[in-house]
Amino acid sequence: MEFFVKSGNPEKQRVGCVIVGVFERRSPSTAAQSVDDHTDGLVSSVMRRGDMDGRLGQTLLLQRPNGIFADRVLLVGCGRERQFDDAAFLYANAAAARVLDEIGAIEAITYLTELRVKGRETPWKVKQALVSSRDIFYRFEDCLGKGAKNHQKNKKALQRLTFAVSSRIELPDAEQALLEAVAIADGVDLAKTLGNLPGNICTPSYLAEQAQKLAKTHSKIKTRVLEEADMEKLGMGALLSVSRGSRQPAKLMIMEYMAGAKGSKPIVLVGKGLTFDAGGISLKPAPAMDEMKYDMCGGAAVFGAMQTIASLGLPVNVVGVVPSSENLPDGDANKPGDIVTSMAGITIEILNTDAEGRLILCDALTYVEQNYDAEAVIDMATLTGACVIALGNHATGLFSNNDKLARELLAAGDNSFDRAWQLPLWPEYDQQLKSPFADVANVGGREAGAITAASFLHRFTKKLRWAHLDIAGTAWKSGKDKGATGRPVALLSEYLIGKSRQG
Ligand code: BES
Ligand code: MN
Ligand code: ZN
Repeated sequence: MEFFVKSGNPEKQRVGCVIVGVFERRSPSTAAQSVDDHTDGLVSSVMRRGDMDGRLGQTLLLQRPNGIFADRVLLVGCGRERQFDDAAFLYANAAAARVLDEIGAIEAITYLTELRVKGRETPWKVKQALVSSRDIFYRFEDCLGKGAKNHQKNKKALQRLTFAVSSRIELPDAEQALLEAVAIADGVDLAKTLGNLPGNICTPSYLAEQAQKLAKTHSKIKTRVLEEADMEKLGMGALLSVSRGSRQPAKLMIMEYMAGAKGSKPIVLVGKGLTFDAGGISLKPAPAMDEMKYDMCGGAAVFGAMQTIASLGLPVNVVGVVPSSENLPDGDANKPGDIVTSMAGITIEILNTDAEGRLILCDALTYVEQNYDAEAVIDMATLTGACVIALGNHATGLFSNNDKLARELLAAGDNSFDRAWQLPLWPEYDQQLKSPFADVANVGGREAGAITAASFLHRFTKKLRWAHLDIAGTAWKSGKDKGATGRPVALLSEYLIGKSRQG
């Protein structure tokens, strides 16, 4: 699929489909008005009849309108004009993309990017429209059989989508936004696909191969993989205790992308790569356990973000670290009450073997602390069901020991519409992790479960400028459009693009 930006009138576009917005109360957008003027009042007549009243997300496809060059016009309801904000903009765009997807349009031009959105400029609109359209056009078909794959191949799919901008002066910035958006959407797709792959295919070894593959495709990425023997030497007793119950060996991927100024401190991304989480001896209940294949989505986001920055060639130093393991019940698995020694030398009483994410992450974080002088360390993990209870599926939980880093990440989330919300990391919560037998317990009871998980990690990150993103609610969707979302690749990309501009 190819994307373009262009300025020009909607009635003059020789394309399969022209997309224009209409607002409630029979208020057309400038583009809709032009179409109306050239089609003898077609838009105003369907609105008068009530076939389309402009409600946000409503769509109406008009065939072969007389007087304009396009084959079809897609009217998209944009709600009240005065309430048209960035959320409404994305909603309207998504509605349009869904129609294009359903009707199998080959090419289209959208004028939604010309609509005025409070506080947002044209490059933002182009970027978000592209990323959100790609989100809708994404399909995970890697695991379909041959018959179904052929069928999908023969289906019509959008090949060219053009975003209209209101004047030629805006074209250069819009084109730059387009380039960034394609790289972000590709990164999101990679994270989605890794997330969607089932646990029997996407094992720690598979992820290690993908990390090597990333280095092959992008010459600036250097990949190293630590094996269990290496982890043994490093004393990663917490990580190894999790993989002991699995036949798949644990892996720890380290991907270095050092395209920034020599000597400038790297930003380190750490992602939980738990390729299947059955809970271990503290076995999870059966319903929806399949969704625990998504427990590597933090790692997948690191892969996605690394790919995005490498394909953009951003002048930044970034290191991606992905500890990867399965968590299964086994004769050799962790048992409740077991005490292990982490790489940091901190002993951990494992009261619940299902709180394994923090066990693999703490050793990865210590590895980062000991091997890099990082500007910032950002970990992301599908860490707690409690975070889903607290924030649902809209916001990622954000924790940080550094206010500036927290602010930057929150802003990157807002700007990319991959939003996060900060929760406290007060020392009071740390009390819940007391163990009578070890330095720390791996769980802190039912209350504030997302925060005590973050507090646990914080024990290992005291010397770092560190932030933790709990993506348990945002990394995948359940229900009818089940699948990985690729979050928080967009947030990370926005943050790193911002960093590269700061120089
Ligand atoms: N991967 C899960 C967290 C999770 C659960 C994410 C459900 C999304 C949906 C994690 O390893 C886990 O099992 N956490 C436990 C922690 C508890 C034992 C303190 C949880 O949240 O139940
Ligand atoms: Mn678990
Ligand atoms: Zn888990």
